[in-house]
Amino acid sequence: MKIAVIKETDATESRVAASAETVKKLTALGAWFVIEQGAGTASGVPDTDYEKAGATIVGSAKEALSGAVAVLKVRRPNKDEIAMIPQEAVVLAIMDPYGHDEALEAMAHAGLTTFAMELMPRITRAQVMDVLSSQANLAGYRAVIDASATYGRAFPMMMTAAGTVPAARVFIMGAGVAGLQAVATARRLGAVVTATDVRPASKEQVESLGAKFIAVEDDEFKQAETAGGYAKEMSKEYQTKQAALVAAHIAKQDIVITTALIPGRPAPKLISADMVESMRPGSVLVDLAVERGGNIEGSVAGEVVTTSSGVTILGHLNVPGRLAASSSQLYAKNLFAFLETMIDKEHKTLKINWDDELVKATNLTRGGAVVHPQFKRSDATATA
Ligand code: NAI
Repeated sequence: MKIAVIKETDATESRVAASAETVKKLTALGAWFVIEQGAGTASGVPDTDYEKAGATIVGSAKEALSGAVAVLKVRRPNKDEIAMIPQEAVVLAIMDPYGHDEALEAMAHAGLTTFAMELMPRITRAQVMDVLSSQANLAGYRAVIDASATYGRAFPMMMTAAGTVPAARVFIMGAGVAGLQAVATARRLGAVVTATDVRPASKEQVESLGAKFIAVEDDEFKQAETAGGYAKEMSKEYQTKQAALVAAHIAKQDIVITTALIPGRPAPKLISADMVESMRPGSVLVDLAVERGGNIEGSVAGEVVTTSSGVTILGHLNVPGRLAASSSQLYAKNLFAFLETMIDKEHKTLKINWDDELVKATNLTRGGAVVHPQFKRSDATATA
């Protein structure tokens, strides 16, 4: 049971899909890990750690992939990688499937059996496989650290002989996994924290972390959570009321961190250029939704923008990758937990239970076709 791990080729990707711990655990279950040289370097995992855990290190992705029955990746394989992966190999990755029909077709045509880790249902059994949570949690933490490093003032209130430094006022928009960790981190740094969301359930969570909840709590708000626990796209009327509330609040904030996402949709625009302008010079905004279109007008993916009024907007890409050692460790564990369910422990082979709800929910391509109901060509056209 050869399992391949290769160095990620995307320029912004510093994470790796295996840790020494997961190599060791899967090796004990009968896997033979073959890892491309240097695959873990950017995540602080030297080749020697993988070797000690039982893996073989090879000089190229091609060698690693040749004859593999499973491939563990961080990102969806690109064209060159697809050409090197054996037909019918199982590929586990964060596939970023929405709006990438051609890439999914390419994996299908190559005969790959692919699984999108981010489609994992958020049920108790699958918590340990939940890559959205493991990565968003670290992104929320890092967003606050990035903001504090850019902000020219202190976060906690400091009463010194030379005078008092006031506490920073931090506003978190979107109180899901990333947002709640941002709330907790900003609180730990001593900031005065407020947060908002459209899901009523988030109110209590925000308050339990010692922050103040601010939102338009009308009838639409009471219905804003889907059965799956996600936010709905809000009506124009709600957005107008929300914008008015946010505009008044933002003008008094030093730091704003936005994390709002709606699965499969562009990120909602929550902050206008005027709102950014209303903040005092030196204020910092972090747009964690920048890769999905952004919550902030004027944020640019992959860039740090400072406006003419002296407000800085951070649009870092791949924020979990800015803590690659931690994010890789957790991501590798998520992959391990899912792959383990696909291993026949007696015969030490891969054996997928196609009736398993986790398999059904995440399987994108199989037998030469895109099989996931949400991404099959005909459905995609029908819902477009
Ligand atoms: P997400 O990444 O999809 O979105 C981030 C946040 O933005 C969400 O809280 C969402 O409500 C909010 N948002 C969307 N539109 C907004 C708007 N217009 N204004 C303000 N906020 C807006 O969400 P995430 O972090 O993936 O969490 C989604 C849900 O899943 C939450 O209820 C979370 O508690 C739940 N969850 C459940 C788990 C489990 O049971 N195993 C594990 C992790 C999360």
